[in-house]
Amino acid sequence: MSLLDKIILGITDTHDASAAIVHNGKVLCAISEERIQRVKSTGGFPLGAINSCLEETKLKLSDIDYIALAGTRAVPVNLLGISSTLELKDYLKIQEKIRKPKFYENKKTSISSIFPNYKPKGNPFYSLKELPLKEYRELNQPEREKIAQYRLNFIANKTKKQVSDIHIFDHHLCHIYYAYYASPFRNKKVAALSLDGGGDGVYESISVFDQHGQHKRLHAAHEGILGPIYSMITLLLRMKPNEHEFKVMGLAPYAKEYHKIATKNFLKSILSIKGIKFIKNPKLKDFYFSLVEALQYERFDGIAGGAQDWLEENLATWVSNVIDYTNTKNIIFSGGVALNVKANLVISSLNKVENIFVPPGSGDESLSIGACWALLDKLKIEKEEKKKIQPLNNSYLGSDISKKEIEDFKNHPVIKDKYNLIKGEPNKLAAKALLNNEIIAICRNRMEFGPRSLGHRSLIANPSSKDTVSKINSSIKGRDFWMPFAPSIIEDEIKNCIEDNSKCDFSYMTFTANSKVNKRKDFIATIHPYDSTMRVHSVSKKFAPSFYDLISCFYKLSGIPGVLNTSLNIHGKPIIMKPIDLINELLVVEGVKIDNIIINNLFFKLKEI
Ligand SMILES: [Fe+2]
Repeated sequence: MSLLDKIILGITDTHDASAAIVHNGKVLCAISEERIQRVKSTGGFPLGAINSCLEETKLKLSDIDYIALAGTRAVPVNLLGISSTLELKDYLKIQEKIRKPKFYENKKTSISSIFPNYKPKGNPFYSLKELPLKEYRELNQPEREKIAQYRLNFIANKTKKQVSDIHIFDHHLCHIYYAYYASPFRNKKVAALSLDGGGDGVYESISVFDQHGQHKRLHAAHEGILGPIYSMITLLLRMKPNEHEFKVMGLAPYAKEYHKIATKNFLKSILSIKGIKFIKNPKLKDFYFSLVEALQYERFDGIAGGAQDWLEENLATWVSNVIDYTNTKNIIFSGGVALNVKANLVISSLNKVENIFVPPGSGDESLSIGACWALLDKLKIEKEEKKKIQPLNNSYLGSDISKKEIEDFKNHPVIKDKYNLIKGEPNKLAAKALLNNEIIAICRNRMEFGPRSLGHRSLIANPSSKDTVSKINSSIKGRDFWMPFAPSIIEDEIKNCIEDNSKCDFSYMTFTANSKVNKRKDFIATIHPYDSTMRVHSVSKKFAPSFYDLISCFYKLSGIPGVLNTSLNIHGKPIIMKPIDLINELLVVEGVKIDNIIINNLFFKLKEI
C-alpha cells in the first residue's frame, strides 16, 4: 500500500482552529471551526470542523490512519481561544497592565490577573480547569510538559487514536508545506518564505524545495518583526490586532507622502536586513509603547501609509535577497503577513521574481493542511509519489448544502414571509437583477476555505454602480467606509481588465492588481479610489462553473465581464456556512435588506411591500 493511500486528519488548535482530511495526495476537505461555532477566528480543539470534514467525506474516525497536528508549543491562552474572545479594549489593557510593567518596570506579570473570570467566546473544548490562562513565557518547563501531554491525550481521546498516531509539526513548517503543495510548482526549484506575528517562537522562515520536491529549511528566526509591528500599528489606530490589519492596508493609500515620513523613519530605525536575515534593533524595548511614543504627533493615515510602505520595502528587499541566495526566481509566500495583498503585488512586481504563488487562507487556518503534507514528507514518500500530490486548484474545500437544508430554507417562516421563489434559471435571473442594481446573496455548492468568498458564499452586485458600495455598506455589511470591494472576473477576460501580471495566480484574491484605465468605469465600485488597484479574483470555468456561468450571463447583458464580490456575512461574524446561518445572522436583523438569494438551484426574490 502506498503511503499516499493513508488517510490523514490535520488539526490546528490555536486561534483560527481548523481541520482537514488529506488522502491520495488530495485535500478532500478543510473547514475552519469558526464556521461551525459562528465565532470569528475561534480557537481550541476543532471538534465541529472535524465532524463536518468526516460528514463531507463520508469517512469515520476509524478510517483515519494518522493525526497531523500543527504547533509544537501548547500555549494555553491560544488553546483557550483568547484572540477570538478579547475585544479591542482588552488588547489595550494587556499592553498597559502586562507589557508595560514587564518591559519598563521589570515586573513579573500574569495575563490571568487582568482576566480573572475568563470565559471563552467560542467553545475551545479543552478544559479551563486543566489549562491555566497563561502565556508561554509564564510557564516553567514541567508546566509546559504537563500541558503538552494534556493536549495530546485530549486529542487522542477525542479522535479515538493512540498518542503515538499523532505527529506534531512546527508552526512555520506547516505554513511552508501548505503553500508549497497548494502551489502548481512541481519539477522546479522554489524558495518558500513564511512570515507572521509569531508561531512556535518564530516570526520568519525560509525553505527551499528542489525539483524533486526535496525540502530544506534554510533559516528560521524571531527577528523579522514586520508582522507583530504591523499588528501593533493596527492597535495604535484603535483596530483589533490579528484581525483588522487589512483595514490599515486599505487606509494606507489615502496618506500623503509627507505624512508618512516620520512613521517610515522610525520603523526603519528598528529593523534592518542583512542578506536573508532580518536584524531587529536590540534597543527596541517593546513593540507597542515604542510606537506610541515615536508616533504620538503623527496623523492616523500617515501612520497607516508609513507602516504599509515600510512593510512593502522590507519584503521587496528580503525576497530579492532570498532570490540571490537561493538562486531561484520561483517564490512561494505564506503566513499571516502574506494576507497583505498590496505587499504581494509589490513582491510580484520585482523584476527578479519569475513566478509567485500565495495560497488561499495563508494565515493560521491552513496549518491543518500544511501539517498533513509535512507528515507525508516525514513518512518519506517516494519522489514520484510527491509529484502525485495535487495542487489545490481551487479553494472550495468545505461543506456542501444538503437537500434537507435547502428544503428547510425554502419552508422557513422568514423566507415564506419575505421572499418569493422565482421560477427560471438562477444565473439568468441573477444577471437581470444585477443589471437592475440589485444585490444577490449566493449560498451554493461547497464552501470556500480561507477568509475570501469566491462565489459560493458571496454577496454580489453590479461593479459599475457606485451606489452599490453605500447600498451594501448601509443595508447589509456595516463595513468601514474606506475599504474597497473586490471584483470577480471570468478568467478569459482578466488580462483585459488589469495591467499585465502573468506571474501571479489570481484564483484566490491573494494579490491586488493595477486596473486598466479603460475598465475603471465598468469596475468603479471595486477599485480602490486612491490607487486604482483591485483585489481581483479570476473565476475558473473548470473549478467554479456555476459562478463562471452567472458572470457570463451578466457579461452578455451588460458587456461587463465581472461582478462586485464581497463575503456573505455581517460585520464581525464568520462567513455564512449553511442556508440557516443566512436567516439567523442576516435576514432577521433589522435593517438588513438582500434583494435576491440563490440557494443552489433556487432563486428567491424579496417581496415588494
Ligand atoms: Fe502563523
